[in-house]
Amino acid sequence: MTSQMSHTRHLGQLSVNAMGLGCMPMSWAYGVDDIDPVEVRATLREAIDLGVTLLDTSDVYGPYTNEELLGSEIVDAGLRDKVQLATKCGLKTIDTFKYAYDGSAEHVRAACDASLKRLKVDHIDLYQLHRTDPKVEIEETWGAMAELITAGKVGAIGLSEASLENLKRAQAIHPLTTLQSELSLWSQDVLENGILDWCKENNVGFLAFSPLGRGFLTGEVSSVSTYDFRAANPRFTESAMAENQKIVDAISTIATRLGITNAQLALAWVLAQGENVVPIPGTKRRKWLRQNVAALEITLDAATMTELSNIPRSTIPRY
Ligand SMILES: NC(=O)c1ccc[n+]([C@@H]2O[C@H](COP(=O)([O-])OP(=O)(O)OC[C@H]3O[C@@H](n4cnc5c(N)ncnc54)[C@H](OP(=O)(O)O)[C@@H]3O)[C@@H](O)[C@H]2O)c1
Repeated sequence: MTSQMSHTRHLGQLSVNAMGLGCMPMSWAYGVDDIDPVEVRATLREAIDLGVTLLDTSDVYGPYTNEELLGSEIVDAGLRDKVQLATKCGLKTIDTFKYAYDGSAEHVRAACDASLKRLKVDHIDLYQLHRTDPKVEIEETWGAMAELITAGKVGAIGLSEASLENLKRAQAIHPLTTLQSELSLWSQDVLENGILDWCKENNVGFLAFSPLGRGFLTGEVSSVSTYDFRAANPRFTESAMAENQKIVDAISTIATRLGITNAQLALAWVLAQGENVVPIPGTKRRKWLRQNVAALEITLDAATMTELSNIPRSTIPRY
């Protein structure tokens, strides 16, 4: 086993291993008919052995079961001190993959208490607002989240998928530790709209979600079942996948030349976007975890970065 602890990145006041772990597919959303609890447990344990510290979850993953999984497999297992637990509030599940926004202060407080219970902890390391509620002023939601720090229930707070305006309004009340948004070779919006630059200028860490394009960029996904979250995503229709195969092919060509996997190339590219950037690839199995953590050892040269900036882009929106 190799320790990756030298790969530390600083997200605001949080210091984490540069490769995080998205726990969502361990309970929900992708390939749910293929979840093996023994493999999931082994994957969580091995992630810690490999030096991964940041585990990302949310109350709506499951709903609730993904937080409960971490409560039993991490906290009950005596591994709490080895990780940083990052969870989220601000959405209420209506149906499996359907949510309502709730950014009220009341919801934030109740959701935090419920997450603490499910995670079996008295303190959440990073509490994130999953989505900004368009009907509630960000000042109310963010103010309630900041109060959770004062109450000792939360160590740091972050936003997810927030606009530049909401980032600025939140920052004016209490410093953000992180922004979590989609960033990958086929989802580069935050590079183009100035959001990642704003994070860098304001000492805000950036958690890159879906860094593998929800698995598609790895070349391992050719279809998704009707029960999969991705089935309703515009990029996962049969025709969209056929059209975007050219992106996978371009990645495969470069990865093969470098002797690495598509996933490793995609993650090395995300890591190269800045010292404040930490990808949180999701997986439920050790074989992918090992590959993903090994991407920390890959540095892409300038010529490869230029080549990657010229690969085809998706014309199909991400949501
Ligand atoms: N804030 C938000 O709104 C938001 C939205 C989406 C996701 N997230 C967070 O971000 C995390 C990561 O995003 P994501 O899970 O959507 O997408 P992702 O990390 O881009 O892709 C995950 C999928 O890729 C597969 N995979 C992982 N490593 C692989 C490898 N080396 N080779 C081949 N396939 C591989 C996994 O398969 P298996 O499942 O079979 O292991 C999984 O289904 C989530 O787990 C969640 O914590 C947050």
